[in-house]
Amino acid sequence: MDLSFTLRGRKFTSVVGVASGTFGYGKEYEGLLDFQFIGAIYTKAVTPEPRMGNPSPRLVETASGLLNSIGLANVGLEAFIHDKMPFLRTLPSAVVVNVAGAVNEDYERVVETLEQVDGIHGFEINVSCPNVRHGGMALGTNPRLVAEITRSLRSRTKKPLILKLSPNVTDIGATAEAAEAEGADAVSCINTLVGMVIDIGSKSPVLPLGTGGLSGRAVLPVAVAAVYKVSRRIKIPVIGIGGITCWEDAIQHLLAGAKAVQVGSATFANPRLAQEVYEGILAWGSAEGLESAGQIGGLLGSLHA
Ligand code: FUM
Repeated sequence: MDLSFTLRGRKFTSVVGVASGTFGYGKEYEGLLDFQFIGAIYTKAVTPEPRMGNPSPRLVETASGLLNSIGLANVGLEAFIHDKMPFLRTLPSAVVVNVAGAVNEDYERVVETLEQVDGIHGFEINVSCPNVRHGGMALGTNPRLVAEITRSLRSRTKKPLILKLSPNVTDIGATAEAAEAEGADAVSCINTLVGMVIDIGSKSPVLPLGTGGLSGRAVLPVAVAAVYKVSRRIKIPVIGIGGITCWEDAIQHLLAGAKAVQVGSATFANPRLAQEVYEGILAWGSAEGLESAGQIGGLLGSLHA
C-alpha cells in the first residue's frame, strides 16, 4: 500500500507528519524513533527574530488534554538556518517550516529568506496561534486577512504553501476557502482551541496570560469535524491535526477527508507515535485491500439524515 503524499509536485514519503511545537527541530527526537516513517517534520514556528515566549508556567495538563501558552518561543530565523537546518537536512523526512510573525512583513521575511535555503520542502503558515497578541489567531480568524497573507506569500514561494487554520471561528470553511482562492496548496487543521484552567486555591488562572491553546485527546472529535467540514468546502488537500493518540485516531481523520495527518502533543508521552501511526495505517489499509492512503476518504459512509 502506498502511504506517500504529494503536494505541489513534491512527494512526501509518508502521510504521517509531526506537528509544529511538539517535535522541536527534530534533533530532540534523535534515536527515539525511525525518521523514515515521518513524511514531514513541521518545525517549531520560526519568526524573524528570536523570541523568549510567554512567562511560565506555560503548560497545564487537563482532562485528556494539554493547555499551552508557549508564546511562539523560538530561536529566530538566523539561528534556525545556521544551527537547526544542518541536522534537519540529514533526515529522510521533508522539512516544512512553520512560519509566524506579528505582522505580514514578518511572515514575508521568513518565507523570502528560507525560499533560498537548501533542504526546505515547504511552509506551514501559522495564522492560528492563540497565545500572542499580534499575528497568529488575530490573522487567522478573519478570512480577508487570510486571503491577504496567502496572496502575499504565494508570490514569494514556489514551494508547497500550507495555511494552518484556527478552530476558534464560527465558520472554519470560510478561512479555508480564502486560503485556497489565493493559491495555498493545502490547509492544515486544527490548531489549538482557546481554553482556561483556574486554580481554585489561588482563585487565579494557572497560565499567566489567562488563556492557552488546548490540544490532546480531548480535541479529537472537534478536529475530525473540522476536517470533515473543510474537506467538503475546498479542493486542495486538508492535513488533519488534533487529538491523534493512536493509529485509529489517524484513520478517523483520513476517513473524514484528510489527505495526510500530523501527530502532535501525544508525541510527548510516546515519542514513537508517528511510527506506530504509520504502521497502523499500513496494516489497516492493507487489510481493507487499499492501494493508497488517498483512497481512505472515499470509504466514509453517508450521513443518515
Ligand atoms: O504558543 C505557542 O507557541 C503556540 C503556537 C501555536 O499553537 O501555533
